[in-house]
Amino acid sequence: MIVVTGATGNVGRPLVQALAAAGLDVTAVSRNAPADRFAGAGPSVRHHSADLARPGSLRPALDGADALFLHDTGAGAQLLDVPEILGVARAAGVGRIVLLSSQGVATRPESASHGGVGRSLEEAVRQSGAHWTILRPGGFASNAYAWAESVRVHRTVAAPFGDVGHPVVDPADIAEVAAAALHEDGHAGNTYELTGPALSTPRQRARNLAEVLGEPITFVEQSRDEARAQMLQFMPEAVVGTTLAILGEPTPAEQRVSLTAEQLLGRPARTFTEWAGRNIGAFK
Ligand SMILES: NC(=O)c1ccc[n+]([C@@H]2O[C@H](COP(=O)([O-])OP(=O)(O)OC[C@H]3O[C@@H](n4cnc5c(N)ncnc54)[C@H](OP(=O)(O)O)[C@@H]3O)[C@@H](O)[C@H]2O)c1
Repeated sequence: MIVVTGATGNVGRPLVQALAAAGLDVTAVSRNAPADRFAGAGPSVRHHSADLARPGSLRPALDGADALFLHDTGAGAQLLDVPEILGVARAAGVGRIVLLSSQGVATRPESASHGGVGRSLEEAVRQSGAHWTILRPGGFASNAYAWAESVRVHRTVAAPFGDVGHPVVDPADIAEVAAAALHEDGHAGNTYELTGPALSTPRQRARNLAEVLGEPITFVEQSRDEARAQMLQFMPEAVVGTTLAILGEPTPAEQRVSLTAEQLLGRPARTFTEWAGRNIGAFK
């Protein structure tokens, strides 16, 4: 049985589906049960409500598990006692752990939010005694959900650094790589950097959304201060600072297309337009 934390998230949900489709038993963990309780994924999936901030609440989910997909909680990750979570997992017999980390661990080592917290999560997993695989994705295509309401209501996208490109990665590709690492051999001890297949800018992604929607979308370039004020509504200040630096002044490594997903999946990584095509309902 495989335990997937963050199971209702952008990576977790397609991961649960991929594992169920491969005929594996899955325990899907999040604090809140999804409305559909993964009904479409079939009888091999059960949901368990647990809070990663309370490692003991994971114990019933991990009982009898072979493998764990560990998703940090993003901006709240510094509050997690990861060695404690891993201790609960190892005591339950988990022998394989796949960690959803971030490219920022390598590219922003000086940043406490991206480099520091992420590095300590990775180190705890490497020291856990389990077979581990670490996934370091760049920015997600699904970050475009932040534009959903303004596209629905005003057919407008407002974003900073409109002409700065990043090779955004489709969370479904991260999920497919995670599924392979969780139940196939040959991935232990590897750290995989995952990106999309090409650079795209916010302005181009807004255009891609308009093409998929079949209606024009106006792109409005925000100033750095406007973007900062908006991000501060849902991110801590330290995370906002590093996120703006990544968006506005990416390092060469943050703009480099990684071929790892293509090599592991045996097909090109999915484009932003493919992500938009599957998720356009949120923008209508
Ligand atoms: N977005 C990016 O560009 C990017 C880039 C690199 C790496 N990452 C990493 O990828 C991860 C996924 O990001 P995302 O924004 O796509 O996440 P997301 O889809 O918003 O997923 C969040 C998931 O985690 C669960 N969750 C949150 N806090 C929890 C807690 N305390 N205990 C148990 N479950 C909890 C949520 O369900 P409940 O709320 O019901 O618990 C949900 O299932 C993040 O941790 C981030 O560090 C993201």
